[in-house]
Amino acid sequence: MSKRLFSIVALLVIASMALSACGAPAAGGGDTIKIAVLAPLSGPVPTFGVSTRDGALLAIEEWNAKGGVLGKQIEAVVEDSQCTADPAVNAANKVIDQDKVHYIVGEVCSKASIPVSEIAEQKGVVQISPTSTNPSVTINPDGSTKGYIFRACFIDPFQGLVMAKFALGQGKTTAFIMFDQGNDYVLGLAEAFEEAFVAGGGTVVGKESYTAQDTDFSAILTKVADSQAEVLFLPDYYNIVNLVAAQAKERGVTAAIMGGDGWDSSDLDLAAAEGGFFSNHYSAEDTRAVVQDWVKRYEAKYGAKPDALATLAYDATNLLIAAIEKAGKDDPAAVKDALAALQYEAVSGTITFDAQHNPIKSAVVMQVKDGKVVFAESIAP
Ligand code: PHE
Repeated sequence: MSKRLFSIVALLVIASMALSACGAPAAGGGDTIKIAVLAPLSGPVPTFGVSTRDGALLAIEEWNAKGGVLGKQIEAVVEDSQCTADPAVNAANKVIDQDKVHYIVGEVCSKASIPVSEIAEQKGVVQISPTSTNPSVTINPDGSTKGYIFRACFIDPFQGLVMAKFALGQGKTTAFIMFDQGNDYVLGLAEAFEEAFVAGGGTVVGKESYTAQDTDFSAILTKVADSQAEVLFLPDYYNIVNLVAAQAKERGVTAAIMGGDGWDSSDLDLAAAEGGFFSNHYSAEDTRAVVQDWVKRYEAKYGAKPDALATLAYDATNLLIAAIEKAGKDDPAAVKDALAALQYEAVSGTITFDAQHNPIKSAVVMQVKDGKVVFAESIAP
């Protein structure tokens, strides 16, 4: 071989080595282990995003202080996924294709987590949603489980049952249901509540849908008032709850307003929601040491009590890192198997996954009382 030809061949070999090093999803490369956090930092529900990011980052900081995982530091890649399908899908593609992450914590909102799960499943990236409660996040339309997708929270059929039982237990037998037909979470939780409420002997005296763009709910609220329903079930996020609850007061609606985890926000309008009840994943009033230690560490870092979103983001991130450690390698195929078989003492309870990658956990019912959100009761599955 001539000297010149030799150097061209050598160059080509070096170039192809460099290319495969940066282009490959090969397990265990790089100096850090990257975890993407997809959180709705802007858009309709920004407190969800801030809490989720803060909870996840604290988990990563604690692991790094103890030496990281598999001898490497953990690097967070935070993206604003806006609680909306398109920005969430763009964020997922970006972190997988450009940042080469093998692991995603997120999204919060079911309607963003469901499309992200399709990408993660297809690309072999492990996704754990801290708080998306719609069943379709972890299961395919044919009912099979998505191998790479997990969640750290209970699901809406349980949450709906909890609130139906709670309402009936309060002696309330008539309910009016309001729901956003374009939101997977709201729609699914409304259906779950209706089914359980009727099965338990209650009557649904009215049902009306609206869209996420609506701001004037007076026509529906007039019907709610006329129906004399004892419960107005409103399983939406805090931004919509604030509008509806304030207008309900103006319209003379006397029904007790009830909802789900989507009410959990430092921006919930407590005056408007006074007297309301909602199901949630955790209460900062829980006296267990694991909870009170967590509340202290979070308060020391961020100067506020952790809500359910922060707590579940912390739990979800810890679950993921514990599974990486158990797998013994930075390989999503091995980590998903480790996660499926993991038992973990999380803040929100001891977590093991069922066949559909859902943890079996209790729910709490919170009450808006005297301008504060207080613990009302805990309901086991
Ligand atoms: N469960 C909601 C969803 O699936 C998200 C959420 C969880 C919001 C917890 C607030 C608190 O869309």
